[in-house]
Amino acid sequence: MEFIRFKSYEEMSDFVANEIAQTVRTKKGCVLGLATGSTPVGAYEKLVQMYNDGKLDFSEVTTFNLDEYYGLSPENDQSYRYFMNKHLFSKVNIKEENINIPSGVAADVQDDCATYDEKIQKCGGIDLQILGLGKNGHIGFNEPGDQLYSSTHLTDLTQSTIDANARFFEDKSLVPTKAVTMGMGSIFKAKKIIIAADFKSKKEAIMKVESGMIDTSCPATLLNVHPNVIFAIVEE
Ligand code: F6R
Repeated sequence: MEFIRFKSYEEMSDFVANEIAQTVRTKKGCVLGLATGSTPVGAYEKLVQMYNDGKLDFSEVTTFNLDEYYGLSPENDQSYRYFMNKHLFSKVNIKEENINIPSGVAADVQDDCATYDEKIQKCGGIDLQILGLGKNGHIGFNEPGDQLYSSTHLTDLTQSTIDANARFFEDKSLVPTKAVTMGMGSIFKAKKIIIAADFKSKKEAIMKVESGMIDTSCPATLLNVHPNVIFAIVEE
């Protein structure tokens, strides 16, 4: 794993946006794995700017998002689908049919999860996966535990994640307690992964990853076995 330290959120966002832009420019029909949360918002803003400046074309890009809250429809303004539309998709020329986000309201969740993984493979796999890092070390919503799951699945969110995400909701009681997430295997099949995090708020998890150990109680540590990962750390 390559660790790159940035002096500011702005610099990290520039780096992530440039890596995404380079993938889009160098591989026609590339497949991006995208994350929500506050960490990638700056990079998405920069991608929108590149698109507005005529420097980036999303018309051939396919995206797969990591996760979605269970029980929230795409129209719900707390859903991750809504978040992605707001920060990126509605502002660039990506084709609607090339956008993929796990459904939070599928009639048959298991079947929908299997279809999601199949679709990623049919599209040739993810070229570049962007990840944020949970305070508890989660990636996607693969929460710490004795076991981790390989494929896309429905999962319970830990109290730590519910508490962390409460900042986006009017009331903590409104934070969904379950989510559909890509599993560790689905993430690990990506050809390249960039994980970004702020050192101040994610110190404990970052240090565990940096120690090189592999421990399911901090799922991000498993990234130590992937051959092509960059850890972009903001050291403000
Ligand atoms: C979001 C996701 C989560 C977040 C993580 C960090 O799609 O999968 O793993 O990346 O919770 O969130 P922020 O960036 O808000 O600190």
